[in-house]
Amino acid sequence: MHANSAPITFTITRPDDWHLHVRDGAALQTVVPHTAAQFARALIMPNLKPPVTSTTQALAYRERIRAAAAAAGHSAFEPLMTLYLTDQLPPDEILRAQEAGIVGVKLYPAGATTNSDAGVTDMRKTYATLEAMQRVGMPLLVHGEVTSPDIDLFDREAVFIDTQLIPLRRDFPSLKVVFEHITTREAAQYVQEAQGAIAASITAHHLLYNRNAIFTGGIRPHYYCLPVLKREIHRQALVDAATKGSPRFFLGTDSAPHATHLKEHASGCAGCYTAHAAVELYASAFEAAQALDKLEAFASFHGPDFYGLPRNTGQITLRRESWTPPHSYAFADTSLKPLAGGEMLHWRIA
Ligand code: NCD
Ligand code: ZN
Repeated sequence: MHANSAPITFTITRPDDWHLHVRDGAALQTVVPHTAAQFARALIMPNLKPPVTSTTQALAYRERIRAAAAAAGHSAFEPLMTLYLTDQLPPDEILRAQEAGIVGVKLYPAGATTNSDAGVTDMRKTYATLEAMQRVGMPLLVHGEVTSPDIDLFDREAVFIDTQLIPLRRDFPSLKVVFEHITTREAAQYVQEAQGAIAASITAHHLLYNRNAIFTGGIRPHYYCLPVLKREIHRQALVDAATKGSPRFFLGTDSAPHATHLKEHASGCAGCYTAHAAVELYASAFEAAQALDKLEAFASFHGPDFYGLPRNTGQITLRRESWTPPHSYAFADTSLKPLAGGEMLHWRIA
């Protein structure tokens, strides 16, 4: 659809967010309502401090998220929970997780990103647990970056595919794998062409921005996330992957709130906050690619189909309307700066 011929309103099946950070405690009150206003369900990342490594912890965390949603009038919102893979996560925890409806287990290579200190140091140490996951059909959600300081930061995803992901999938050919928040042409191509049960989530910010955004007119910490924004050719490859209609690609915002003073810092935290306008940001990206008609499948069908969950039955309507998200939200006892805060957007959820 061309900008000129774009419709005034646009209705799609209510979407889900397949990769979301909501933190804990008072922070939930700011961020959970933003997500719950748009999405029916969200897959909640387990990288709390300490990480969510047991079914018991995940179920308690789910109750805190549900309470924050309900307090804002969104009692139908469904947090889908994940466990954090460590070198020690025992195989029988996978069975408990499966029975309790935990949806996936997240692999953070140790040191790869925010709160990944407890992550995996050597994939071999997790093989008995991966074996159990493969047996029961529990998906492995992968932060796909190597952590070696010898590897250039911008190459860490591509190197991960060759040195970690391909060997891992050779050893566990029927393990379901989601390559989370992909950022490169190499990752999009691998996911498109690989054999077996693999899919990838793509963020709105990696569809909208390339790495220049981090350095425009000075260093801009609110565009810093991991995996870091890449060159324009990679952004274009992600747009192609998202808008072609392939069922292997779906929406995952990776909305990752950090207090303003920890982003605007000598050693600023990685993570972009997009939950306040998530669907609107994706709509901008799809519209720019003249592919608004592909948004619904990407946002609402491919994710549940891959995870083996029912598609949602409700709907949301986007209206063509110019509006400006605020520069900042209250966030526990600090503040939170959203991506595109103070900038005009052209779609708004009705
Ligand atoms: C995430 C966070 O802040 O928890 N940060 C980010 O830059 N995306 C962690 C992650 O998903 O890598
Ligand atoms: Zn994330």
